[in-house]
Amino acid sequence: MRLARDRLPLYRKPEPVTIAPGPTPRPGILDIAPYVGGEAKIVGVERPIRLASNESALGPSAKAVAAYRALAGEIHRYPDGSAEELRQALGRRHGLDPARIVCGAGSDELISLLLRSYAGPGDEVLYSRHGFLMYPIGAQTVGATPVAAPERALTTDVDALLERVSERTRLIFIANPNNPTGTYLGASEVARLHAGLPPSVVLAIDAAYAEFVNRNDYRPGVGLVDRAENVVMLRTFSKIYALAGLRLGWAYCPPAIADVLNRVRGPFNVTAPALAAGVAAVEDIEALKRARAHNDHWLPWFSERLAGLDIPLTPSVANFVLAGFPHDPRKNADAAFAFLHSRGILTRKMASYGLPQHLRITIGTGPEMETVATALTEFMGAR
Ligand SMILES: Cc1ncc(COP(=O)(O)O)c(C=O)c1O
Repeated sequence: MRLARDRLPLYRKPEPVTIAPGPTPRPGILDIAPYVGGEAKIVGVERPIRLASNESALGPSAKAVAAYRALAGEIHRYPDGSAEELRQALGRRHGLDPARIVCGAGSDELISLLLRSYAGPGDEVLYSRHGFLMYPIGAQTVGATPVAAPERALTTDVDALLERVSERTRLIFIANPNNPTGTYLGASEVARLHAGLPPSVVLAIDAAYAEFVNRNDYRPGVGLVDRAENVVMLRTFSKIYALAGLRLGWAYCPPAIADVLNRVRGPFNVTAPALAAGVAAVEDIEALKRARAHNDHWLPWFSERLAGLDIPLTPSVANFVLAGFPHDPRKNADAAFAFLHSRGILTRKMASYGLPQHLRITIGTGPEMETVATALTEFMGAR
C-alpha cells in the first residue's frame, strides 16, 4: 500500500517565502530546498583535507590536463555541439554505438534533461529513499512529484520500488552503486526491476561510480540499454576520471531517447575544454587503472580501520564510505564532523539524505586516509 509519507521529500522543507509583487516562479519552485554541495574550505586552514564530495583522490590524467591546457588559445570558438570526437572515443572504449551517446554538463544535466523530457506536473518520479538528492530535487523543478521507496539495509529495494509504480510514474532513478550509501544492486536485481516496469516508464541507471566497482555480479547497465527501449545509463567524468570541475557526463540511450535528449539539450551544452579533456581521459587507460588500484587498496584499509573503532559501515563498492555514529551527543555524527573539521578534515553530513547519524567520507590519498583514521581513533577514544 502506498503511504502518504512516501511522497514526502526527505530533505528539510525550506521556510515559506513571502513573495513581493513581481515575477512569480511556477508552482512548487519555491518549495525546493536547494542542493547544498560538500564544503571546500575551512577558515584559517590553507589546505583542508577534502573528503566531502567524492572527488578523485589522485586527480586527473596528466594527458587530460594537457588537452585542457592546449585549448586555451581557442576558447573564443564554440565547442563542437555534437561532441563527435568524445562520443567516438567513448564508443571505442566501451564498445558502444556513438549515435546512442548524449553528452552533458555533468550527469546532473542529463538527469535534468531526462526529467524535462519525460515528466511534468501530475507525474511521479520514483527513487530509492537514500538515493542521490538530485532525483527528487530535479523532479520538483519540472513540477513532478518525487516518490521515495524504502530501502532494505540501506540498499535499493527492487520490490519496494515496483510496489510504488503507478499509472502516473514516468521515470525511475537508481544510482548503482548508490550515493550516499555506497551499496549496489547486482545485474539480476536490476534486470528484475526492469522486467517489472511498464514499457512507458523510463529506468535511468546512474552508474556514476561504476569504474570503482569490483564485484562479479555488477553491471553498469549497457546490456539492459541494448535490449530495451526504456533504459538509460548515466555516466560521469567527475569521479574516477577526476574532471568534476569541468562538468562532463554522458548518457547511453535507446535511439529514440537519444533523439529526445538531443532535441531538449542546449546546442553547446558541453564546453570545448571539457570535450578535449574527456577524450584524453577516456584514452588514458593507465591513469584509470591507477585510480582503481588506489581505491582497491584504501577503501578496504579505511573500512577495516573504522570497523576496528566500532563505527558501523555499509559495504561500500564506491570511492566513499557511509559511517554510522552512536546517538550519544559526545560521539554522534555532528560531534565527529566538528572534531574532524577542527583537524582540517572536511566530510559530509548526511541529514539532508535522512541519515543524521551518518557521515559520508570520500577515499582520499593514502596520507589523508591515515590522518582521518588517526583522528577518528582519537575521537572515538576520547571521553
Ligand atoms: C550518483 C550520482 N549521480 C550523479 C552525480 C553528479 O555527477 P556530475 O558531476 O557528473 O554532475 C553524482 C555526484 O556526486 C552522484 O553521486
